[in-house]
Amino acid sequence: MEKFIIKGGRRLQGEVEISGAKNAVAAIIPAVVLSDEPCILENIPNISDVSISLRILYEMGADVKFLDKTTVRIDATGITEPVVPYEMAKQMRSSYYFLGTLLGKFRRARVSMPGGCYLGDRPIDQHLKAFTTLGATCVLDHGMIDIQTEEILGSQIYFDVVTVGGTINTMLAAVKATGMTVIENAAKEPHIVDLANFLNSMGADIMGAGTDVIKIRGVKNLKGTAYAIIPDQIEAGTFMVAAAATRGDVLIKNVIPKHLESITAKLEKIGVNVEEFDDSVRITVDGPFVKTSIKTMPHPGFPTDMQPQISTLLCLAEGASIVTEGIFDNRFRYVDELRRMGADISVDGKVAVVEGIGSFMGAPVMATDLRAGAALVIAGLAAKGVTEIGDIHHIERGYEDMEGKLRALGADICKKSAPGDSIRQAAL
Ligand code: EPU
Repeated sequence: MEKFIIKGGRRLQGEVEISGAKNAVAAIIPAVVLSDEPCILENIPNISDVSISLRILYEMGADVKFLDKTTVRIDATGITEPVVPYEMAKQMRSSYYFLGTLLGKFRRARVSMPGGCYLGDRPIDQHLKAFTTLGATCVLDHGMIDIQTEEILGSQIYFDVVTVGGTINTMLAAVKATGMTVIENAAKEPHIVDLANFLNSMGADIMGAGTDVIKIRGVKNLKGTAYAIIPDQIEAGTFMVAAAATRGDVLIKNVIPKHLESITAKLEKIGVNVEEFDDSVRITVDGPFVKTSIKTMPHPGFPTDMQPQISTLLCLAEGASIVTEGIFDNRFRYVDELRRMGADISVDGKVAVVEGIGSFMGAPVMATDLRAGAALVIAGLAAKGVTEIGDIHHIERGYEDMEGKLRALGADICKKSAPGDSIRQAAL
């Protein structure tokens, strides 16, 4: 198992380029199955969730070829069996998008229940409700979800909770339905819009993505396309917070500033300077950090995927900040690890009180999930002394070359194998 070793206390300075969005590509790679021709995807991030999605397609019979570092050509027309086995699906949450996309293409799908970050109970009842409303039968059989139908019937679907995954899965199936599907109380995240744009570029007929009512008129066939994935809003936000926490001066390039508005607004309240340009933002700091209240909410609210990182910054503010997690039941698991670095955070259910501590102390810690890992990296960069972060495979699921990008900004960070890794590799 690899670790990050960070010697803290260096100001981040310079420029960093943001990669393609993990949560957009998580939906768009499976969506290629719907196309009757090959597709070319550009701005693909080099993260392990992408490798797993591409591996799933390849194992099912697709032809997958990288044209350059960030461009992949996928011909999914060779897929005949709509099955994603446990060994593949368990590795990431978004494997459940193969349910929608295989149902759309083949009218049946058999996909293992998904894995992914543990953030509390993560039911998929709304996905299954939507598939059932579209006319499919859904059965749980030995850990596999089996869905099938003769015909996908355009329908009216109202989500009881705003769900990104449920909205995406419904779009993936409904795009090949007979008639019109209307999704109400839909999620509005930038990656929902990106998926709709991708599907429309293949010939789909989707209107309203980015609002809470999405209308999808089913089509018979979808053609090949070339499409560039949007930049990752959360990777950008993570670098914004890292730059601020080290009181640095960083230009964050290849971003859509509109997607960062809720993050920018909170950073400005905390006392961070955020200068916006057409496709970049510059972070500087010239005063103390100020306590702030934050509640995570569906887009356009403050994203839950930035909650651990911004809470880490709030540890460096004067006074007590209140952070409320509005999406997941258990997204404060990183707090125990941050406490090892000196954080003074008390958690009661979905509310945390973050007391300012002045600075972190380096310590050995473990990444408990993807964004928890990002938060620990930020704390390590700002800390006095050395921080060792274990279980960094969580971080590599969603951040492309995080240590390389941080090193280019002046951070003292390296990746090390844990003792035993070489013995393990030699034995394999
Ligand atoms: N929910 C239900 N029933 C459902 C679906 C969701 O009750 O059928 C609940 C969830 O338990 C949660 C809330 O609704 O409390 C929102 O869940 P949502 O479906 O929106 O989340 P998700 O699709 O499981 C995606 C991202 C997450 C991100 C959330 C919220 C992917 C692969 N994952 O998860 O990303 O936190 O949306 O924006 O797109 C991350 O990148 O670190 C990450 C966890």
